[in-house]
Amino acid sequence: MNIVLFVLFCSAVCNGQPIQNATSTTVTPASGQETNTSRVRNRLTEAIGNFSIEFLFKTSVLQVPGQNMIISPITVWTALAVIAEGASDDTKTEIIRALRLSRNQTATRENFGDIAKWLTVNTKTVEIAKFNGIFVDKLRLPLPEFQSTSKIYYDTDTVALNLSNPVVTADLLNRVISNFTHGRISSIVQSDNLQNTPMVLASALYFKGQWTVPFNTTSTSKQPFYDSNGTQIGEVNMMYNRAIYPFSNIKWLQARVIELPYGEQNRLSMLVMLPNHGVSLESMFSNFKNVHLDSFFEELRLSKEEFSEDEVDCFIPRFKIKSDLDLTEVLKQQMGVQQLFDMSKARLPKISHTPLYVSKLVHKAEIEVTEEGTTASAVTVAEFSNRIGVVRFEANRPFTYMIVERLTNTIVFGGFYRQPSLY
Ligand SMILES: *[C@@H]1O[C@H](CO)[C@@H](O)[C@H](O)[C@H]1NC(C)=O
Ligand SMILES: *[C@@H]1O[C@H](CO)[C@@H](O)[C@H](O)[C@H]1NC(C)=O
Ligand SMILES: *[C@@H]1O[C@H](CO)[C@@H](O)[C@H](O)[C@H]1NC(C)=O
Ligand SMILES: *[C@@H]1O[C@H](CO)[C@@H](O)[C@H](O)[C@H]1NC(C)=O
Ligand SMILES: *[C@@H]1O[C@H](CO)[C@@H](O)[C@H](O)[C@H]1NC(C)=O
Ligand SMILES: *[C@@H]1O[C@H](CO)[C@@H](O)[C@H](O)[C@H]1NC(C)=O
Ligand SMILES: *[C@@H]1O[C@H](CO)[C@@H](O)[C@H](O)[C@H]1NC(C)=O
Ligand SMILES: *[C@@H]1O[C@H](CO)[C@@H](O)[C@H](O)[C@H]1NC(C)=O
Repeated sequence: MNIVLFVLFCSAVCNGQPIQNATSTTVTPASGQETNTSRVRNRLTEAIGNFSIEFLFKTSVLQVPGQNMIISPITVWTALAVIAEGASDDTKTEIIRALRLSRNQTATRENFGDIAKWLTVNTKTVEIAKFNGIFVDKLRLPLPEFQSTSKIYYDTDTVALNLSNPVVTADLLNRVISNFTHGRISSIVQSDNLQNTPMVLASALYFKGQWTVPFNTTSTSKQPFYDSNGTQIGEVNMMYNRAIYPFSNIKWLQARVIELPYGEQNRLSMLVMLPNHGVSLESMFSNFKNVHLDSFFEELRLSKEEFSEDEVDCFIPRFKIKSDLDLTEVLKQQMGVQQLFDMSKARLPKISHTPLYVSKLVHKAEIEVTEEGTTASAVTVAEFSNRIGVVRFEANRPFTYMIVERLTNTIVFGGFYRQPSLY
């Protein structure tokens, strides 16, 4: 019986190294001015948005309560879309439903091409790179048509290997990923994950961005962190900045949202969503269920126009989150993708004539959010003036964050911060 091990690796390293010749905090961030209003919109951007929100929420439901989390919904989506190309019958139907794919494959491929094009950025201040590969045993190469579809439409390369030695293979995969992530992620695959595995699908996303307006390390200080009921549960190193950040109080979400842009071109931003006092992260998130992600972004845009000159006192903890998740159960129990993981039911005839199923879907991600590289001495006390008219955004209780590509509104990374620590 053939086994497919399906591995996803991701890394978001977003340390806000100050840009050389940094702008001072009173300068309007680039995203304050709408430089390019043309957005990439197609049926698929909406579908991916819906999937991403649902997937973030459902993954958190299966987590141990109170833990921090980081995942990359677009990476999971892409990997499953490649698998869908090789699937048939109910196996395919289940994936299509979870991914909200249309039955029109031509349209999906074209639309995805438009999105993927924008998910590659490489400038002095922002770098985002993706890597998709199918590592497969030399003797059991997938069907040529599947290989070319994966390459042409999903930029996924097929790499033939001698997989008979799991130790050598694990080492090779680790080296490829390490090279790709600039050494940030070095050992992900263990050889015992590769026993009897004819195929490994690996998908990695690397992001590194510098804040458009860097935080000043001298303003970082130790501050209490509360649960959503206001009980102190720990301490964090709180970064502080006063700047003109796009900001909105979104009533239907029961949350306040701030947008922290990266780089100079207004392409990627971190959105921090802070539930109102007394509102739990879970109930805030469930408010997304009946609303388009697009209307959320529209509300943010309108608010940006209305309050474009308002400064915000922004407090965000410095943090690092690593997630190492087995997403198999989330997909099976929460997203209705069951047959794919079932040895006797999976139908993947366009990948290979021999029966295949997916044994596991593993996801690794890492995010680091800092003001800059210098280690700040922990107990600097900063003075935070409470000037009238300055909005105060203080992420000192559980919040959600998302790194979003703004032309396509793709959620590149997303997660929860609930468990404070002095990073
Ligand atoms: C920073 O500014 C100085 C003086 O204006 C200039 O010589 C230097 O090239 C700038 N550095 C960068 C990285 O832009
Ligand atoms: C705006 O983005 C579109 C692509 O979406 C591009 O073709 C156009 O040149 C950009 N315009 C400006 C002014 O940057
Ligand atoms: C996305 O979700 C919204 C809100 O539930 C729904 O109206 C819309 O039809 C969904 N779109 C797709 C493509 O799934
Ligand atoms: C599928 O989508 C393509 C491209 O958007 C379009 O040209 C074609 O007519 C569609 N086919 C069907 C059956 O709707
Ligand atoms: C694969 O590697 C094993 C030992 O690692 C070797 O015995 C075998 O001949 C190799 N197979 C192929 C097809 O290269
Ligand atoms: C590492 O990556 C570079 C380009 O990113 C590539 O030229 C090189 O061949 C890679 N090395 C390995 C061992 O994969
Ligand atoms: C950081 O803050 C300190 C004290 O307020 C100030 O002296 C310094 O110039 C600031 N650094 C930057 C890069 O703005
Ligand atoms: C907050 O209080 C409510 C009602 O007393 C309780 O159900 C909930 O578990 C509390 N939440 C936390 C995070 O302690």
